[in-house]
Amino acid sequence: MAIGIFDSGLGGLTVYDKVTARLPDQPVVYFGDSAHAPYGVRDADDIYDLTCKSVERLWDAGCDLVILACNTASAAALRRMQEAWIPSDKRVLGVFVPLIEALTERQWGDNSPPREVAVKHVALFATPATVSSRAFQRELAFRAIGVDVEAQPCGGLVDALEDGDEMLAEALVRSHVEALKRRMPNPEAAILGCTHYPLMETAFQMALGADVKVYSQAALVAESLSDYLDRHPDMCGSGTENLFLTTGDPVSVSDKATQILRRKIEFQAA
Ligand code: DGL
Repeated sequence: MAIGIFDSGLGGLTVYDKVTARLPDQPVVYFGDSAHAPYGVRDADDIYDLTCKSVERLWDAGCDLVILACNTASAAALRRMQEAWIPSDKRVLGVFVPLIEALTERQWGDNSPPREVAVKHVALFATPATVSSRAFQRELAFRAIGVDVEAQPCGGLVDALEDGDEMLAEALVRSHVEALKRRMPNPEAAILGCTHYPLMETAFQMALGADVKVYSQAALVAESLSDYLDRHPDMCGSGTENLFLTTGDPVSVSDKATQILRRKIEFQAA
């Protein structure tokens, strides 16, 4: 009865952590495509091919439902996957919608026309591929009107986090926030639109200032998954094991994951 969680690397562990806290009895198979991270600097075809291959591996591990805990894959590949590739007995869900529903104060599945919402100036921090896809703005436009979104591609940040270089990551957060504030001096809300970025949430909050509400996805995705599984208990798949799979070097990936989650994590070769 396993579900799959996919990311290009280690960032999806922020989602994994909240999912296992919310659903402690739910077996989860985590797949990190560290050999090919970062995805955020790749083109859409490349991201699509790599994501499909990774999701297939999760299906082989007995997961009928896979969460793309990766905004880049959700932005650049998910729609194409859903249109033509995913078999009828499988589901692949992205991480954008729960976040946008929270930002626009909507309940799950509220398909009413877009309306005015409280926040008017939103800063989006995401990978270059997510920013250039404009998927966030598209999903937001289905639900809200009159929201000004300024997007900052945070080049280098995922590499620094995958390498465990926290000092570089902090410096990059400060410079990306400064760059954004030159274009939008007073955002009311900030979206951490990459699952790696919650690892730097404190640095983002400090650079943005205490009056900016920072939205990060992990807890929102876990809540929305729990709700989905209540409504679709048949999507829990046949797998019964908790597993961590990587296309990278299992030893160094395990060390970094153990540091991030502050408990022993053992990855095995995918
Ligand atoms: N953590 C991913 C995301 O949410 C991917 C980052 C990357 O591989 O560039 O976008």
